[in-house]
Amino acid sequence: MNESTSPHIYLAPLRGLTGAVYRATYAEFFQGIDGAVAPFLTTIQGTRIKPGQLKELLPENNRLMPVIPQILSKSADKFIVLAKALFDLGYETINWNLGCPFARVAQKMRGSGLLPHPDVVQSFLDVVLTAIPNRLSIKTRLGRRQKDEILALMPVFNAYPLQELIIHPRTGEQMYTGKPDLEIFAQCLDLSRCPVVYNGDINTRQDFESLRRRFPAVSAWMIGRGVLANPFLPAEIKGLLDVTGNRMERFHLFHDTLYDRYAQVRHGPAHLVDSMKGYWTYFAAFFPGGERILKQIRKSQGTEQYKKVVDSFLARAVSP
Ligand SMILES: Cc1cc2nc3c(=O)[nH]c(=O)nc-3n(C[C@H](O)[C@H](O)[C@H](O)COP(=O)(O)O)c2cc1C
Repeated sequence: MNESTSPHIYLAPLRGLTGAVYRATYAEFFQGIDGAVAPFLTTIQGTRIKPGQLKELLPENNRLMPVIPQILSKSADKFIVLAKALFDLGYETINWNLGCPFARVAQKMRGSGLLPHPDVVQSFLDVVLTAIPNRLSIKTRLGRRQKDEILALMPVFNAYPLQELIIHPRTGEQMYTGKPDLEIFAQCLDLSRCPVVYNGDINTRQDFESLRRRFPAVSAWMIGRGVLANPFLPAEIKGLLDVTGNRMERFHLFHDTLYDRYAQVRHGPAHLVDSMKGYWTYFAAFFPGGERILKQIRKSQGTEQYKKVVDSFLARAVSP
């Protein structure tokens, strides 16, 4: 990618956070995201698809931001059934989750649990890629336990016509600790026959610039926590004008809209407040001294108290 062209930025999948409600609301208030990979769907329900399973991905809930659905599965047969149902909804590209780090997932050889097993990945891709009508992209970590597990997987990935390989350069066991390993990422970038997307710890425009300088061959960038903490980040990276103006007012309106929409879909006030508290884990970083407000928000009980704490804070907050 040339320095002068606008980078392609994906919103990362964060289960419980970057679902359809967040994506649509984000797209109404902020600029700079070109598309998203949705948080994973599982196939543990079997090969019968319940209508509710696809609600998050119904086209009417996803008009404002292009989205690639993601599937977490080790069963080729079940994956194929779900991929076809997604194709029928209009999804020409789907993503396979090879990165989920949670022990209960990895132990069952799903997500990052598949990374030490190139032969199993190969058998899966052999069956799936001849059967699905969609294009396939993969989102992966470097390994489950070892950072170089991915090097044995690269020839497997290269044997198939993958749409994109999205790499978060940590192991599953690392979860989110330590730093992304850029040396191994560089090796993967050199080895990959398909376009590579970089993902991990882009929290400022400077983070992005230094990665872009180091990896001009990266085809697109994926940001998760950095966008949740600073929803203006993609526009800042792209130098879009919308970073001027009253950022705090925009954030406040965005928050209130998100809240109102969750109020429609969450079952009861406790779930609603829990959902919003989940966002504040990340939102707090947007504000100088945000830990203090985070503590108050976490302590708040019920919607009335939550709204009171948040409203009075946002009305006083100064744009960073
Ligand atoms: C709460 C949470 C939920 C996540 N859910 C998913 C998911 O559903 N699918 C996935 O591929 N990655 C998931 N991830 C990983 C992110 O997509 C991303 O790879 C990771 O946060 C690193 O990128 P970042 O530093 O830009 O956030 C999740 C991460 C977090 C913190």
